[in-house]
Amino acid sequence: MKIKKLILFFSLSVFFGVLGCKKDSIQNENNVLLNNKNVKMESFLDSLMQVMTLDEKIGQMVLFSTDWEKTGPSINNSYKKLVEEGKVGNIFNAYTSKFTRELQKTAIENTRLGIPLLFGYDVIHGHRTIFPISLGESASWDLEAIENGARIAAIEAAAEGIHWTFAPMVDIARDPRWGRVSEGAGEDVYLGSEIAKARVRGFQGDDLSATNTILACAKHYAAYGAAQGGRDYNTVDISERELRTTYLPPFKATVNEGVATFMTSFNELNGVPVTGNKYLLTDILKTEWGFKGFVVTDYTSINEMVAHGIVKDDKEAAELAVNAGVDMDMQGAAFMDYLKELIAEGKVSEKKVDESVRSILALKYQLGLFDDPYKYCDEEREKNSLMTTENLEAARDMARKSSVLLKNNKEILPISKDKKIALIGPLADNKWDIIGSWSAAGDRYEKPVTVLEGFKTKISNSSNLMFAKGCEINSDDTKGFNEAIAIAKKADVIVMVMGESQDMSGESASRTNLDLPGNQKDLLKEIKKTGKPIVLVLMNGRPLTLEWENEHIDAILETWFPGTMGGIAIADLIFGDYNPSGKLTMSFPRNVGQIPIYYNVKNTGRPIDPKNPYEKYKSNYLDVLNSPLYPFGYGLSYTTFEYSDLSIDKNKFTFNEDITVSVIIKNTGKYKGEEVAQLYVQDLVGSVTRPLKELKRFEKILLNPGESKEVSFTINSKDLAFYTRDMSFKAEPGEFKIYVGTNSQNVLETQFSLK
Ligand code: BGC
Repeated sequence: MKIKKLILFFSLSVFFGVLGCKKDSIQNENNVLLNNKNVKMESFLDSLMQVMTLDEKIGQMVLFSTDWEKTGPSINNSYKKLVEEGKVGNIFNAYTSKFTRELQKTAIENTRLGIPLLFGYDVIHGHRTIFPISLGESASWDLEAIENGARIAAIEAAAEGIHWTFAPMVDIARDPRWGRVSEGAGEDVYLGSEIAKARVRGFQGDDLSATNTILACAKHYAAYGAAQGGRDYNTVDISERELRTTYLPPFKATVNEGVATFMTSFNELNGVPVTGNKYLLTDILKTEWGFKGFVVTDYTSINEMVAHGIVKDDKEAAELAVNAGVDMDMQGAAFMDYLKELIAEGKVSEKKVDESVRSILALKYQLGLFDDPYKYCDEEREKNSLMTTENLEAARDMARKSSVLLKNNKEILPISKDKKIALIGPLADNKWDIIGSWSAAGDRYEKPVTVLEGFKTKISNSSNLMFAKGCEINSDDTKGFNEAIAIAKKADVIVMVMGESQDMSGESASRTNLDLPGNQKDLLKEIKKTGKPIVLVLMNGRPLTLEWENEHIDAILETWFPGTMGGIAIADLIFGDYNPSGKLTMSFPRNVGQIPIYYNVKNTGRPIDPKNPYEKYKSNYLDVLNSPLYPFGYGLSYTTFEYSDLSIDKNKFTFNEDITVSVIIKNTGKYKGEEVAQLYVQDLVGSVTRPLKELKRFEKILLNPGESKEVSFTINSKDLAFYTRDMSFKAEPGEFKIYVGTNSQNVLETQFSLK
């Protein structure tokens, strides 16, 4: 009690300037950039840390989960007791203002110093209002909408007592066998970095002490997306150049954006598990990049280093982790059980622990928890902030923006509202799967709008809409086929809603077969026999292999797992109330044998002749083309766009000059529509081999039918920099090609030189 008073004294004395802080630093305290020195905070932390025991410090480095049940919390005494004892300073998987208040009270009233708990949670693509899965959102190429989605998620989460989200996931991924591609922003480094920054801005806002902002967490650091064979948690062995060129940039981008925390990944990198990898955590992240927040592990990843075979037991694992630069142990108890002993034995320095604790307390301070530990537990705000009409509308808009039209033969889409429609498929009236995986607090029973429900809002004559499930998502059972075939025969047009179940992507959801699961394709083939036009609406968390569908189905609309408002958004698209504009952020392979597949490949010494793609002794396959079925950046619209007049302001540039590239884009079709114009660069000769194309800029524009616009992009030599042969990061003089177009394959080109 005395000590609590002491802390109060320190905070008040600091506040009133007794310790001599400057006025401008107080005004600065809300600055989200952690690099900014904050005198008042530093004095407060000095005072607090002086009175903390080693046990209390270690407690701040421990993060435990509640035993939250699907229907709500049940207080498990072991973690509650540990909170009371000051052994656990942070909790995850707890939300609602009532539950977090109750837990917070336990920490404030029972521990010696009353240090507030930090509540973390997986707020990934929405909190209560679920937006499309992150991979889907990335297909919008709309940074403002993505930022807004994260902002809404933060507002809802913060209203339910959450201070910290385990997002954004910024792992670049080029292997769709890996289920976690659904959580990221696809295969491209530039787009991935821009999206990573947008999400950090959305979650953290520009004032961490505001009650509607939360800490973001860049995860899973690093190279998790390069797991061999696309098998989750698997080994990663890549070169330093590949690490820095492909996997690190989105993480670095989040540091530049002021991200508060980082999460280590489960994988090893070149022989050393990331959670014990000093090179990644200290040398690169904290030293080279100057990251000032804290590093949390992934779930029990300290303990998993025993299975990795790099340490013999949990105690050695704790030593390796903390000395590598881990600040907080998620769920593993290795810090709780062994840090004190390790310090006594001189294997870990107390200074190291102090640094970690300080970085954690600093963020609790910046959130304002030392002023009011209950500031995020306001039942009134909670009541008014969740699933508001505005939030639901934003989710609907994002679902429309995220959908990618993959095929539209003879313009069968959009469908006129007076047509007789057979709606078929296991995902057509499915609330459970439509919100996708990692929708932790999302409702799967009532709120999601299914496609059937969405269609009903559009079709006034109800007898024009027939529905049959047809089959399950992943089963051999054909008993629903006949009913589906029967309604298909009566229809003018058939809409099939098919794909994966929500748990077939996300964590621990790797697949080696990327076809539509179960007997869905068999049903499609049966329905095809009716000879009626078919629209295939897909819901899935990763690129699928769709060669047969692409050949035989008239129209294909990829909607990912579109979230709470998915069904109505899909209805908007299918009936032409909204024109699709999404573009793929991952290449869709023709078959699994092409994986890994991505657009920014190198030429090799034996590139194929596109006119003779199967030629012997060239870098190709005997049985499939090198090209993907649908390339990166691809996506159709109900209208058409024509690119012309690509120009560049000069042909020779110095390193200090801006390079301006312009193109005219014309809407040559019947509908108003949005187009994402993409600019790629190729460095023709380098001190190391360079990709054939790299995305450097993009712009989304809206054009009325017949309208043309000039789009200009500006780049400079910094955009041309890469890790040269001696690993310095710079541009080299020489010849470059510029490509601008509607996707990574269909482009106009020009050339310039850099001297
Ligand atoms: C996942 C993380 C997640 C954590 C906490 C882990 O299994 O890999 O992405 O944030 O659990 O739920």
